[in-house]
Amino acid sequence: MESTPHAPSSPRSFHAILVTGGAGFIGSHVIRRLLQTHAELKVVNLDALTYAGNLANLADVESDPRYTFVKGDIRDAELVGSLFDTHRFDAVLHLAAESHVDRSIAYPLAFLETNILGTATLLNVAKQAWTERGCMDEALFYHVSTDEVYGSLGDEGLFSETTPYDPRSPYSASKASSDHVVRAYHHTYGLPVVISNCSNNYGSHQFPEKLIPLMIRNIVDQRPLPIYGEGINVRDWLWVEDHAAAIDAILTQGWVGDTYNIGGLNEWRNIDLVHKLIEIVDAHLGRAEGHSKSLITFVKDRAGHDMRYAIDASHLESRLGWTPSVTFEEGLTHTVEWYLNNQAWMEEVTSGDYQQYYEAHYANRG
Ligand code: NAD
Ligand code: TYD
Repeated sequence: MESTPHAPSSPRSFHAILVTGGAGFIGSHVIRRLLQTHAELKVVNLDALTYAGNLANLADVESDPRYTFVKGDIRDAELVGSLFDTHRFDAVLHLAAESHVDRSIAYPLAFLETNILGTATLLNVAKQAWTERGCMDEALFYHVSTDEVYGSLGDEGLFSETTPYDPRSPYSASKASSDHVVRAYHHTYGLPVVISNCSNNYGSHQFPEKLIPLMIRNIVDQRPLPIYGEGINVRDWLWVEDHAAAIDAILTQGWVGDTYNIGGLNEWRNIDLVHKLIEIVDAHLGRAEGHSKSLITFVKDRAGHDMRYAIDASHLESRLGWTPSVTFEEGLTHTVEWYLNNQAWMEEVTSGDYQQYYEAHYANRG
């Protein structure tokens, strides 16, 4: 079986793509981009609409005749098989996942089931369908993963594609497992795969359980800003639309069997980032400088909290020419403005199941 990464002979152009998790944060940006950049492409979005998935994220594309939404679970092999029969996909872009580390600490099995078994189900159906149709050479299974599979860095160094896997949380362990299963299908069955591992994303439509939208929401509402431990953990932040652009480049030009780290060399300590958000949000709301600083509340640290993530994206840059398009200041300002202008979205996504989870896990921390 072919196992050495190899370039496509020319940029790929697909007929129909199955995108999983398209109603979530990154998936919705990716679908919007694919419809903009691929005029002939049919896009089928398979999403279970968990608490993190919201069709409002894609309201602007739902009437596009090239776009179809299907509510369903990636673990449902029968459903996925019937979608392959109906739409004759030549590409899968797999983003569906349980994605939040804190939730994975509370509910580890849900992460193992969706992220490992769900990925394995998709791989198996794709292998069968593409083998029967004899189209492995033209097809692509693209698995979207995270830099968290590499574990935690000390003060120095960056994650590269050859950094050994060392996941620490149930979330990162489940994503690491799914990466291994994807590679196993490539090496064992010749499934044409590509994987990318990205750093922390931020931008519009991100569910407010993650640091940046949670803090923006709480600064607006003047609620406590819970900082885990001493706030000295470091994350490497990338604007979601730059991630979507990288995914598009890898989808069309990525080498089969290859792995691409995606990141913007943009490291921030959590405490410094929260101060930056306070500055931007308070200024936009016409509050005095430093008005919301007193909301900062140091809370019990996350169990097994990874200290530092930082990505070396030079392989992606040199092989496919991708670089981030915005500075952090620009991306963060744009992001804050989006949340301030879309408070109805915030109300809608937090009014259901999540409200109960939030009340139980976060509301009274301090
Ligand atoms: P998200 O939680 O916002 O969205 C996940 C989507 O998957 C939701 O729409 C949800 O309804 C759907 N989903 C969950 N379980 C499903 C199932 N069993 N069947 C079908 N659909 C299901 O996540 P996100 O932040 O957009 O992340 C998308 C992908 O990118 C994930 O695979 C994640 O691991 C990866 N990633 C995320 C980040 C980040 O910073 N957010 C960074 C690197 C990689
Ligand atoms: P998060 O957005 O959950 O992403 P990840 O855990 O995948 O990196 O968290 C980013 C960082 O912010 C992480 O170090 C944990 C920290 N954090 C807080 O300090 N307080 C919070 O309320 C949250 C959600 C995260």
